[in-house]
Amino acid sequence: MTLLAAEVSEKPEAKAVIALRNVSKWFRRLKSPVTVHALNGITLDIRPNSFVTLVGPSGCGKTTLIRLINGLIRPDAGEILVGGQPPVPGPHMGVVFQSFRLMPWRTIRANVYFPLELHQVPRKECEELADDYLGMMGLRRFADSYPHELSGGMQQRAALARALIGKPAILLMDEPFAALDAQTREFMQIEVMKIRQKLKSVVIFVTHSVDEAVLLSDQVVMMTPRPGQIAEIVDVKLPQPRWENDVRVTPEFVALRHHLWEGIKAMVLNDPQSEFYQRDRAAPPASSADKED
Ligand SMILES: Nc1ncnc2c1ncn2[C@@H]1O[C@H](COP(=O)(O)OP(=O)(O)OP(=O)(O)O)[C@@H](O)[C@H]1O
Ligand SMILES: [Mg+2]
Repeated sequence: MTLLAAEVSEKPEAKAVIALRNVSKWFRRLKSPVTVHALNGITLDIRPNSFVTLVGPSGCGKTTLIRLINGLIRPDAGEILVGGQPPVPGPHMGVVFQSFRLMPWRTIRANVYFPLELHQVPRKECEELADDYLGMMGLRRFADSYPHELSGGMQQRAALARALIGKPAILLMDEPFAALDAQTREFMQIEVMKIRQKLKSVVIFVTHSVDEAVLLSDQVVMMTPRPGQIAEIVDVKLPQPRWENDVRVTPEFVALRHHLWEGIKAMVLNDPQSEFYQRDRAAPPASSADKED
């Protein structure tokens, strides 16, 4: 049976900007015959203008998934399509890492326009755009400073400006706020929510914080311990914008964070590979008082 064009476009995957089909990834350790099965059978559709967060135990393959979507590495099985094509890195996909990865020898302005320089954009245009994006991040005054002269929060905002300068259709953020203090982190969450509303990009965000995941996302993808698989996809239907009234005090927010945290906790405590595996049930080391004569 042939499908009509209208029926094809109604298929949910036809609307996905990013489509992962049964994606698996193995890594071979250097100088070792051992292979690590990092991801197994990941199938996921990411819709236009959606904010999707990946959560799951450490080592479950979240960063690997980000690198696959960015086209830095290829799947060993399955298929990834970004806008209908296998992904290639470039300014259309902005990436923000936990470590800010600013180049210490370049000014903040020169760090921010680096992705454009790679694509032969004329210097004057690079500088003007960098200043615009630094302005958006409240860092215009620091354009001529060097990274070490900025606080952690300011460096992370500069890294965000660098990711945004290519007007990315897709923004990939791998634990971007993990190195920030709690208060700066909350302000950065607000920045990201505002940027997302303004730019209408797809955002794929990785965090270990279930609160952060629920606050920011339209969908939270909970992954299993390695090899990472999708345990559950949770829709977050809390009203937008979420920075004006603190949604974290609502019963809906509390129920979602509780559900996700219980899920992750159960997976970690029941994972024999985890350092937290049923530790509370392990027999205590025998003290001398317990020893039999
Ligand atoms: N280049 C590589 N070579 C070998 N093994 C790798 C490589 N990259 C990742 N791995 C392994 O793949 C698994 C998944 O790693 P990944 O970094 O994607 O996990 P993660 O979920 O991001 O963890 P975390 O939450 O700690 O950041 C881990 O066991 C890791 O050791
Ligand atoms: Mg990681």
